[in-house]
Amino acid sequence: MRAELLDYLVCPKCGEALDLHPFLDDAADAREIDQGLLVCRGCAAPYPLAEGIPRVLPNAFRRLQKYRRDFSTQLSQIDFRELPLEDTRQFEALHRLTSRAFGYEWNTYRVTPRAEDLMTFFWLTGADPEIYGKLSVNDVFSFYPTAADLAKISGSHLAGKTVLDVGCGMGKYLAIVSDYAETVIGLDLSDALVRARAVVKDRPNVHLVQGNILAPPLKPGFADLAYSLGVLHHTPDTHSAFRRSNPVGNWPCGCIRKRKIPTLTPIGFTGFRTM
Ligand SMILES: C[S@@+](CC[C@H](N)C(=O)[O-])C[C@H]1O[C@@H](n2cnc3c(N)ncnc32)[C@H](O)[C@@H]1O
Repeated sequence: MRAELLDYLVCPKCGEALDLHPFLDDAADAREIDQGLLVCRGCAAPYPLAEGIPRVLPNAFRRLQKYRRDFSTQLSQIDFRELPLEDTRQFEALHRLTSRAFGYEWNTYRVTPRAEDLMTFFWLTGADPEIYGKLSVNDVFSFYPTAADLAKISGSHLAGKTVLDVGCGMGKYLAIVSDYAETVIGLDLSDALVRARAVVKDRPNVHLVQGNILAPPLKPGFADLAYSLGVLHHTPDTHSAFRRSNPVGNWPCGCIRKRKIPTLTPIGFTGFRTM
């Protein structure tokens, strides 16, 4: 984690800013902080920074027993107030289910070819609105782009923007978007972020946050754009996940496949593309 990320993070419980307490080993490389503790300025809730990823979830401090043992000395010198067990219990069930479903999958399987990810990202999100007119694609998932197709993509609409990837998984689209946008934040609930970290490690404009879409640990309005690919329907409440992440960053022009998510009616969200 790099300190700039603190400008965007908030406590998911009370919405206050977080303070970062880096642990000693990180002093050698102040830009990349691997281990530490984030503490809410309002309610003093503790959120571990472990393996370079801020774990801004209600149950994270309770869950990471090894982290607590390894850094017991440093933790004993910081003032914080652990969240009550009942606050974390309900969330724990959702977290366990999602981690089981996706943590293994994304940490085990290889990434798809970049050309495919590039085309899928621009075609599905509408981040290059003109691309719809340039290509005739019936089903992007069975589409293998040619060099000529790829040459038609322009990322100019992302230039200078701060972009949020809602449910970034192992980060394959972060690796695309960060070529064009100024800053990209990947938010995900699962340990797939460990894999994402390896994917984006040489990209200083990418930040990762472990957090829940249903209570995003991010400052409202911090992002210029948000996109989400294959995620919202995995939450217990798709509509609510859509609405709650919207204030964080405006959805540009997403795609919802009516056949897959028949109940979602994005009324009031102009620029939301339905296909
Ligand atoms: C099918 S994967 C898609 C990942 C990525 N967008 C991609 O296309 O490669 C769904 C992702 O949604 C994440 N997810 C599910 N529920 C979530 C929640 N409540 N908050 C944050 N992420 C969630 C999962 O952890 C998983 O990484």
